[in-house]
Order: sequence, then C-alpha cells, then structure tokens
Amino acid sequence: MSTPAIAVEGLRKSFPGTKKRDAPKLVLDGLDLTVAPGTVHALLGPNGAGKTTAVHILTTYLRPDAGRVTVAGHDVVAEPDRVRAAIGVTGQFSAVDWLLTGRENLKLMADLNHLGKAEGRRVADALLERFDLGEAADKISSTYSGGMKRRLDLAMTLVAKPAVVFLDEPTTGLDPRSRRTMWDFVRDLVAGGTTVLLTTQYLDEADELADRVSVLDRGRIVADGTAAELKRRIPGGRIDVEFTDRGELDAAARILRVPAPDGLTLQLPHDGGLRSLRAVLDALDDAAVDVAGLTVKASDLDDVFFALTGHAAEKEAMA
Ligand SMILES: Nc1ncnc2c1ncn2[C@@H]1O[C@H](COP(=O)(O)OP(=O)(O)OP(=O)(O)O)[C@@H](O)[C@H]1O
Ligand SMILES: [Mg+2]
Repeated sequence: MSTPAIAVEGLRKSFPGTKKRDAPKLVLDGLDLTVAPGTVHALLGPNGAGKTTAVHILTTYLRPDAGRVTVAGHDVVAEPDRVRAAIGVTGQFSAVDWLLTGRENLKLMADLNHLGKAEGRRVADALLERFDLGEAADKISSTYSGGMKRRLDLAMTLVAKPAVVFLDEPTTGLDPRSRRTMWDFVRDLVAGGTTVLLTTQYLDEADELADRVSVLDRGRIVADGTAAELKRRIPGGRIDVEFTDRGELDAAARILRVPAPDGLTLQLPHDGGLRSLRAVLDALDDAAVDVAGLTVKASDLDDVFFALTGHAAEKEAMA
C-alpha cells in the first residue's frame, strides 16, 4: 500500500471550559483516520461532533493534545511548514480578500506562490474559466453570491496545486444546483490525483462523493467504510414486490414464508445484497409466480447514522 495522504492515530483534543471552574471540554476522543491518496474521504457528523476541530488540527491551525497526525507524509506538529506547503484549505480560514476582485485575489495568490507574472496570469485565467467566474472576474468579490464565493475560495486553494485539499462543509447553505456544481469540482479534483477530505452533515453528500466515510459522533469515529458498506451493516432496506392479483400475492407470501398483507404489494426486508435479491426472484420463478413489478429500496445513510449513534443527525441543541 502507498503512504496514506492522511494518517491520524489516537487524536485527542480538549478545550478549556468556558468558566474557570468548568472542566475541560473533550472534543476529540481518540480519533483514527486513514485516507488513501487520490480519494475523497468524508467526515460525517452533526453540529458539534468535532469536524472543524479535526480539520484545524490536520491543517496545523490547532495543536493536538495527544495522538499522531501526518498529512502528505509530514507530521503536523514536527513539520507544520511542510504540511502547509502540501495542502489547500477552504472554509473558515478562507484566504479570500473580499475587498479585491476575483482576478486580483487569484493573482495575489499566484504571487504568494512565486508563480511569476505570466504564469500567474495564465493560472488565474484558467481557474476563473474553470470555476465559471469569468464574467465576475473584475467585480469586487464581496458582491458575489454565496455559490460564487465558495467557488472563488476553492479556486484560491488550487493556485498552488495542493496534493491534499480540505473542504469544511463545502456546500452548507448552497442551493441544490450550486451543490451539484461543487460536487462536480470535487470529482474533477480527485480525477486529477488530488486527495480530498471533506466534512459534511449531509448524508447524501457523503454518499455521492466519498470513497470512504467516517461517521464522527461526539469526538469518536463510530463507523468507517464505503457508503455501501455502512448501509449494508444495518437493516432497513427492503424489496417491494407487486402482483396483479391476490392469488399470486398469496402464493408468493407462502413461498417466501412471510405474512400476506392487504393490497397487492409484498414488502420484504432486504440487506441490500444482490444474492438475497436473486434468491427471492429465483424462489418466485421456480414456483411460476407472476411478478408485476419490483422495487429495491436500500437503507440510506440517515438510517445508518441513527442505527450507529442512537440519535438522528439533527442539529445540536443550543447550549
Ligand atoms: N476554541 C474553542 N474553545 C472551546 N470550545 C470549542 C472551541 N472550538 C470548538 N469548541 C467546541 O467543540 C465542539 C466541537 O466543535 P466543532 O466546531 O469541531 O464541531 P463541528 O463538528 O465542526 O460542528 P458544525 O457542524 O457545527 O460545524 C463544540 O461543542 C464546540 O463548542
Ligand atoms: Mg464545523
């Protein structure tokens, strides 16, 4: 196996209590995470789970209390400069100067990265084009829409061609179309060999984008795997089999040893696997029962989150 792009072992972090006598607040409670190069890894968790704290440590903005963290092969505590040179971060620590135009921002970033005048201009133009900011390039960036700001922010981080990109909730607050556009950019990035760690509270986002998903709840990873693996781990999926008449449905219920419901649809629990789906179809086929229609409903990550944490992925109550 190649060196992981990100390796986290036993990461712990507490913050001091708000009042003097308050006990420290444990936010990351032994986090483990391995991200292979050229993949998208989603850190999925509700408000207050510790996602941003983890990103801040991985990007050297915060020091860990304990544990070992390497990014692009460099230790975040021992070699923070090396880590910074290899990464791009969007989100809260955005490098965008909102008083400058989009183009000025990108050129400034190119200067900071010593790209040289001609190369800087070329990179800025290419990124403005790629992120669909050509028309707005010479407008002050504070006048951009939310989606445009997010795209400029991402473009800024790509000037230096980072090997690892951190996206902290890249689509929170975006409309559905802008979300899809952002997803396309992330896919492009990864197709070009970049590693992406993104945090999200959206289960569909992790499902769409991530090669692997780590579910973070109260500072701990409570599950880790591909979205499909996570979904398979819990029940909740089902197969709906439709029939044209009661006789067929009753026969099917007998064969499959389930109670016959009212109506013409038989609902069967399903683990999401092809094998069990085939077993159902074969059993009905062997008995020459006519099936009018069939729908497979996989459990979604919402079901997974609930099953794993015992609570839904809803907003943290305000303290
Ligand atoms: N500098 C800090 N001092 C004290 N507590 C903090 C600090 N930063 C974060 N916290 C607390 O740590 C916990 C985790 O916060 P964090 O921002 O990492 O969560 P998150 O998963 O990113 O949440 P969200 O989805 O709302 O962005 C929260 O309870 C938060 O109040
Ligand atoms: Mg956050």
